[in-house]
Amino acid sequence: MFKLGIVGAGIIGRDHSAAILRNEDCELVAVCDTVLERAEEIAAAHKAKSFTDYKEMCEQVELDAVILNLPHFLHHDVTVYFLEKGVNVLVEKPMAMSVEECDSMIAAAEKSGAKLAVGHVQRYYSAYEEIKKIKESGKLGELKMITEVRNVNYLPGRPKWFLDKKLSGGGIVMNYGAHTIDKIMYVSGEKVVEATSYLSNPLSDDNVEINAQILLKFTGDITATVTYCGCPDTRAYETVFYFTNGMAKSAGGSDFCVFENNQWVNYGGTTDLLYDQLVEFVKFLKGEESNIVMPEYGREVIAAIEKIYAE
Ligand SMILES: NC(=O)c1ccc[n+]([C@@H]2O[C@H](COP(=O)([O-])OP(=O)(O)OC[C@H]3O[C@@H](n4cnc5c(N)ncnc54)[C@H](O)[C@@H]3O)[C@@H](O)[C@H]2O)c1
Repeated sequence: MFKLGIVGAGIIGRDHSAAILRNEDCELVAVCDTVLERAEEIAAAHKAKSFTDYKEMCEQVELDAVILNLPHFLHHDVTVYFLEKGVNVLVEKPMAMSVEECDSMIAAAEKSGAKLAVGHVQRYYSAYEEIKKIKESGKLGELKMITEVRNVNYLPGRPKWFLDKKLSGGGIVMNYGAHTIDKIMYVSGEKVVEATSYLSNPLSDDNVEINAQILLKFTGDITATVTYCGCPDTRAYETVFYFTNGMAKSAGGSDFCVFENNQWVNYGGTTDLLYDQLVEFVKFLKGEESNIVMPEYGREVIAAIEKIYAE
């Protein structure tokens, strides 16, 4: 039984804790958040201890691994802290705010021998597994292009740190881009070599973009266009993969669809992402083969995001 800790008991921290409750290979023994009530609320359901200081948590509780759900500017420092203490880490996406930070995290893992993985959770939508199988089987020919449109009313209710570049590293591209790049890299097996982008924020004075149009060139002669619109009343989420002999897509993020006989056929999909990711993380901790994201891959995602912002 692996003893887990959570640092950051906000929106996604709560979801991770619910996944841990259902997994028989691990138990949540400690929760930390600078807002004590958030830590206590999660801890109560697990009979875990609560903390406001992650260093204190690490000193007082024996931990096999921690799941870090923190504002992006903290990913590097808190990851390195736990790795140096010999505690394995699953850090939420994006791995960090720069390639330089990723390199330092990878070096810390190598030096300490503790394991590091990155929470690129959307690859666990079954749609991407199915589209990856289509790609690898050659059933629809060669994968050539991808289009993703993801629209959401980005500003209301969003934790404030997401809208301050110093704390988040960027806006909708840093946040959703980490998912998009992972999903395309995962399905295609390729990586970003060039990016052109137009980023804007027409609605607020926050120093991050909420709208983006991006053109990406991947190795393997694959291109992608990505549109994020963070304005109200624009909801959409669709990622289409264009092959030389057909199309497949994920709709609404999760559903697996194939274009057959001149119409989209929806085969549905599974959505238990954080649980599925936890199962892979546990395999990784056990030293078994696992589909969890390795830090070198997480670094490649950040390298792509840096290319988009460099434009
Ligand atoms: N995988 C996904 O689909 C997904 C979804 C949402 C968020 N995320 C990622 O998860 C991370 C957290 O996002 P969120 O939406 O849960 O944000 P959030 O603001 O809801 O949660 C962050 C929590 O961290 C706490 N915190 C801040 N500084 C701390 C510190 N020094 N020590 C302990 N706790 C501290 C805050 O009080 C807050 O409760 C980000 O990396 C985000 O990109 C991923």
